[in-house]
Amino acid sequence: SKRKKIALIGAGNIGGELAALVQRKDLGDVVLFDIPQKANFAKGKALDLEQNGAVLGYDARITGTSDWKDCAGADVLIITAGIPRKPGQSRDDLVATNLPIIRSVADGAKEHCPDAFVIVISNPLDAMVYEYKRRVGAPREKVVGMAGVLDSARFQLFLAREAGVSVKDLRAMVLGGHGDDMVPVLSACTVNGVPITKLVAKDKLDAIIERTRKGGGEIVGLMGTSAYYAPASAAVAMAESYLLDQKRLLASAVYLSGEYGYNDLYMGVPVIIGAGGVEKIVELDLSEDEKAMLAKSAKSVQGITDVVKSST
Ligand code: APR
Repeated sequence: SKRKKIALIGAGNIGGELAALVQRKDLGDVVLFDIPQKANFAKGKALDLEQNGAVLGYDARITGTSDWKDCAGADVLIITAGIPRKPGQSRDDLVATNLPIIRSVADGAKEHCPDAFVIVISNPLDAMVYEYKRRVGAPREKVVGMAGVLDSARFQLFLAREAGVSVKDLRAMVLGGHGDDMVPVLSACTVNGVPITKLVAKDKLDAIIERTRKGGGEIVGLMGTSAYYAPASAAVAMAESYLLDQKRLLASAVYLSGEYGYNDLYMGVPVIIGAGGVEKIVELDLSEDEKAMLAKSAKSVQGITDVVKSST
């Protein structure tokens, strides 16, 4: 069958790393889309990446553009359009700037690639992916947000270092909104099946949970802009599961209609991603504590989602 097409909306830091990963995994050809003022930037980045492919031996075609027509027929759309955080900002602080941007992206995508599987990365994540789905009117199976894979990876890294084990053996899940009250699910956290509490003391666990919740902000504070290697890898894991029908179970922001007791809201929960997109939402038996944490996180997400819903 013909080569897949992956359109990356936003050719900035995450967009560039996404393109590099798609190229090296040979998932398909890449279109790097950005605003007209940055069309040449996108074209230059695309050329650099293709030349890198010539060094490394990867044939993927990578093109830069600001013309939505070039995204036509995309199988996957990964959206990073928007501005990233600066030190001291919360993700929610980005809403005024990024809301009109996600709306213009939704309009372009609705016209030119309505059938794509869409992964939103732009922040504030849960509200941006909500608005995208609402504006395009796409089925929830085809529109997800990337946050849980990244937040879970941060949690896994800190736990692995503390326990003195390989990151490869850490299994962890972070649910809820992509904000400071995200919910690490300790009952789902193991070192190859061994409960994490066997290997990491309670006070250390609490500190790691706190660091995970502020994991994005820690990097913004150090770099002056937000992370891009890990966010790109996390989104590519989701895209790959869709394109190759891997049916991986990944924490993803998904539109909830009743699951976990929430309605008309995007929030991170475990989902199975395959050729059908979101093929299943998995409902965990959360402890009372975890339910309370999820309720708190959902309240924050609802607040910023309401801002988006009421803004014209
Ligand atoms: N359409 C397409 N691209 C756009 C649009 C638009 N309407 N508006 C802005 N962009 C582009 C910018 O021109 C820029 O090149 O989005 C790109 C964003 O790139 P960076 O500024 O490097 O930001 P990045 O680190 O990639 O993060 C993007 O992801 O994690 C989130 O909080 C982060 O919301 C931010 C987004």
